[in-house]
Amino acid sequence: MKITGRTDVYGIFGYPVKHSLSPLMQTAAFEAAGIDAVYVPFQVSPENLEKAVDGLKAMGIRGINVTVPLKEKIIHFLDFIDETAEFMGAVNTVKNVDGKLYGYNTDGDGFVDSLKEERIEVGGKKVLIIGAGGSAKAIAYSLLRNGVEKIVIANRTFEKAESLAGRLSKIEMVEAVSLDYLNSVVDKFDILINTTSVGMKESDPSLFDYSLIKPDTVVVDIIYKPFETELLKVAKSKGAKTINGLGMLIHQGARAFKILTDMESSVEVMKDALLEGLDGRNI
Ligand code: ATR
Repeated sequence: MKITGRTDVYGIFGYPVKHSLSPLMQTAAFEAAGIDAVYVPFQVSPENLEKAVDGLKAMGIRGINVTVPLKEKIIHFLDFIDETAEFMGAVNTVKNVDGKLYGYNTDGDGFVDSLKEERIEVGGKKVLIIGAGGSAKAIAYSLLRNGVEKIVIANRTFEKAESLAGRLSKIEMVEAVSLDYLNSVVDKFDILINTTSVGMKESDPSLFDYSLIKPDTVVVDIIYKPFETELLKVAKSKGAKTINGLGMLIHQGARAFKILTDMESSVEVMKDALLEGLDGRNI
């Protein structure tokens, strides 16, 4: 890569940011598209976020991705946000257009794209989402916009599931259940999605009795490290189709790339870059 006076600057704001795979993935996409740009990590503490956003404008940085814990707070410093980011109260992509900052959230649509890539049609499906945090909100919102028939949200803290279901019910009826009910309802869904961090560690207990999963259920875990969580392992052994979180990571990035550059990205190139990066971390 040759950096000149004309090279555009993009990046990611996070705290910490050093574990982010976005620089690897987006740099590969820029190179493949022949765009004269660099994509760099910026470690920005929440206290410094406003100054960093001012700096972004002052220095003409063309756009950034935003990761934890800044996705909510950054909204205060943007000029416009789209409908999806507004509903989510969180932004993961900011585009600088002539000094005005536009915020978007590509997480939910990236998730739906990752299912489409696996030829899973979500329209008319009954979906169980485990977890009621930011990821669950993004995923549920996009699933509803893509015509799912029903969503049930199960969460350890039932009140959080209830509150999220209440917000989503402005779009379509969504129900909440407690995690304790999972064993008795799990066979009633076409798609089951884990959005919690349970399964990242080998010692994690199961969220429910995974052996109750039916072969015709699609089971998705948004975790990608490890590639195959215990949930996915057992689901696969039961004959179910399983999908890990790599696709969501790639497709939220691909959508961000399109917003920031107005060009299509190469999903294959992004995937290869990610796999190489994850491999280097001994996954
Ligand atoms: P994210 O943005 O990735 O969704 P989050 O907003 O912190 O992260 O949400 C984490 C979700 O994982 C929550 O639904 C949380 O349940 P609680 O609302 O009860 O905290 C869920 N979660 C985390 N650890 C869990 C565990 N050990 N068992 C069950 N659920 C867990």
